[in-house]
This record gives sequence, C-alpha cells and structure tokens, in this order.
Amino acid sequence: MTTSWRDEYSVGDEVIDKHHRQLIRYIQLLEDPKIRSRSGDDFMTMLVEGLAEYADYHFAAEEAMMAKAGYPQLQAHRSEHADFAKDMVLFRETFGQGSPRLEKALLGYLRDWLLSHILTSDKAFGEWSALGTSGPEA
Ligand SMILES: [Fe+2]
Repeated sequence: MTTSWRDEYSVGDEVIDKHHRQLIRYIQLLEDPKIRSRSGDDFMTMLVEGLAEYADYHFAAEEAMMAKAGYPQLQAHRSEHADFAKDMVLFRETFGQGSPRLEKALLGYLRDWLLSHILTSDKAFGEWSALGTSGPEA
C-alpha cells in the first residue's frame, strides 16, 4: 500500500495543504521499497527525523494559525499534536534498528494517524474557519 495525496485531504487552506503534501511525501519515501533496499539504516533514520522535525514545524504553524483565528478547539488539537510528537520520539528510536516488523507497524501508525488527523481534526478547523469568514454570523 502506498500513500498519496487526495483532493479530499484538502482543508481549504493553501499553506496547511502544502505542509500536508510534504508530510505525505516523507511517508512515500519511507514506503518506497527501492529506497528502503538501496539505502542504509542511517538514511531511513534520517528520513524519520526529517519527518518528525517537519511535523513539529507544521504543528507550530497550524497552532499559530488557530490561535490567531481564536479557534475554540485549539487546546484539544494541540494535545493531538503533542501525542503524535511523543510517539515520534519512540518512532525515531526504533526506526533503523533493523526490525522490519516494528518498522512496518510504525509506518502504519504514521500513515493512519496523519490521514485520520487531516480528515477529521484539520478539516474541522478548515470548516470552522470557512464558516467564520463567510457564514451569516462571524
Ligand atoms: Fe493538525
């Protein structure tokens, strides 16, 4: 199974969508069997670290946007991001240690978490902000 961008992932904000596309690109690299077999464990670890750092950057940007907009679900959203960041610490320790089964499980987690977070929590913000700017009562 490979992950790819779908139109339904769009939250209606160009910057957030761009970040999400980038995160999906990281997942695609990690999923790619050619890259996995050609590169060493160090390279895979570097990819996971890159993804984790990019996710931190993206979460901070998204939270700043939510704070600026006065989003009422900011705290709950922030804690979802924090849970992911904690899991990524474990992910970074495990990846590249030569346990393909564990790596597969973690890659599955990454994919599931990101896509369901985008489709539910991030889209909820997108819908809320669209209502705030064009609804009958801002
Ligand atoms: Fe988010």
